[in-house]
Amino acid sequence: MAKVLSKYICQSCGYESPRWTGKCPNCSGWNTFVEELTQRGATRKTTTSSKVRGMPLTEIDIQDDYRTRTNIDELDRVLGGGIVDGSVMLIGGDPGIGKSTLMMQIAAHLADKIILYISGEESARQIKLRADRLKFPKNDSFLVLAETNLDIIQEVIERTPPDIIIVDSIQTMFKPQLESSAGSVGQVRESAGLFTRIAKEKSIPVFLIGHVTKDGMIAGPKVIEHMVDTVMQFEGERHYAYRILRVMKNRFGSTNEIGVFEMRENGLEEVKNPSEVFLSERSFGASGSSVVASIEGTRPILIEVQALVTATNYGTPQRNSTGVDLRRLNLLLAVLEKRLGMHLGQQDVFVNIAGGISVDEPAVDLGIAAAIISSFRDVPVDSQTVSVGEIGLGGEVRTVSHIEKRVQEATKLGFQKIIIPKNNIKEFNKPNGIEIIGVERIDDAIKLLL
Ligand code: TYD
Ligand code: MG
Repeated sequence: MAKVLSKYICQSCGYESPRWTGKCPNCSGWNTFVEELTQRGATRKTTTSSKVRGMPLTEIDIQDDYRTRTNIDELDRVLGGGIVDGSVMLIGGDPGIGKSTLMMQIAAHLADKIILYISGEESARQIKLRADRLKFPKNDSFLVLAETNLDIIQEVIERTPPDIIIVDSIQTMFKPQLESSAGSVGQVRESAGLFTRIAKEKSIPVFLIGHVTKDGMIAGPKVIEHMVDTVMQFEGERHYAYRILRVMKNRFGSTNEIGVFEMRENGLEEVKNPSEVFLSERSFGASGSSVVASIEGTRPILIEVQALVTATNYGTPQRNSTGVDLRRLNLLLAVLEKRLGMHLGQQDVFVNIAGGISVDEPAVDLGIAAAIISSFRDVPVDSQTVSVGEIGLGGEVRTVSHIEKRVQEATKLGFQKIIIPKNNIKEFNKPNGIEIIGVERIDDAIKLLL
């Protein structure tokens, strides 16, 4: 075997250096060097060239059962129908959010498969403790490997290839030939590369857990997003029990899906009807609360928007939002100020989405505006009315997508009235049992809601 060495490569210009340097002597970029192996070939086999050829599309066959259902519906939907053979799935999320728990539960549901759980975070004993807590079924096909050295891991996999590999987490794995420490960009990329090769060559699905927060990365994972097939983010507020599995990239399905879970005493529970859950603690008759029909993925979800508007104690009023983009909130406040003549300049405004979830579609604008106006005037929003609509800069209520699903969901949960954009009115079959009102401008909507 050839001697394996590493080198450092500038990520912006490709300049090579035997040592790490802070500044690239070629392009003058700072902190651009990442360690890479020079002798990759030593560990890779090459097929005899005479057999290699391009293959006509018609000759490529896909077995019918190339997806494995986990029977955790919330997860299967996010994955586009199940785990695809040989795919690499990255699950990111803050520490403590429940990534390891989710993985264990997937394993518990696939009791007939040989699962190799590679843990660099916890000892085998700790994993056993979690398994007991989750009432993990007794079987011998769940194998724990508490190891971080990629050479050893690779050898174990070569010896007895499992059906599914779980890596917890990618930041703890290291290739001994690289001198940089585990979790560095070079190491993370190297290990992602290794697991991707294993997945493709042996057709084994691989789950990679990565610690990555919403606003980017702590170490590495961003750089491997393009190497993997699916990127999911497990999120939720630490103090709430609800967890949302969001898919950011999926080569085998839609990227709009979400899965909703609740963290309980003994693990994650699927939430089959999120609307009921998110509305369960609504305070009737209080000002500053409104219900909106949002679409998360392909599913409509009714959620409560809360707002609190109070006179400010400081020179500059505070604007604060949880679950809603702050820029969107500021924009809505400006529209209310200009189009409805509301004087919010001396008011603190807080907006919150109940249940700790976040919404980023503009169709919730009308509901946010209603909650703010309701709190400002201290008049409750009609508790039996749902609203949907995007608000334009001119104060007009603009068309939204999937109107039929939203109306159906409101009907299903027993609401009596729904306020929607006027232009949406014509386009769908109206369900019975709910009054549907189309509005053109925000002032019309507010008259109906408050
Ligand atoms: P964990 O899966 O270890 O999170 P991660 O791998 O993302 O860091 O679980 C995180 C939290 O979940 C932990 O604080 C304890 C809690 N938890 C439960 O409430 N119930 C359970 O059954 C388990 C296993 C964990
Ligand atoms: Mg963990």
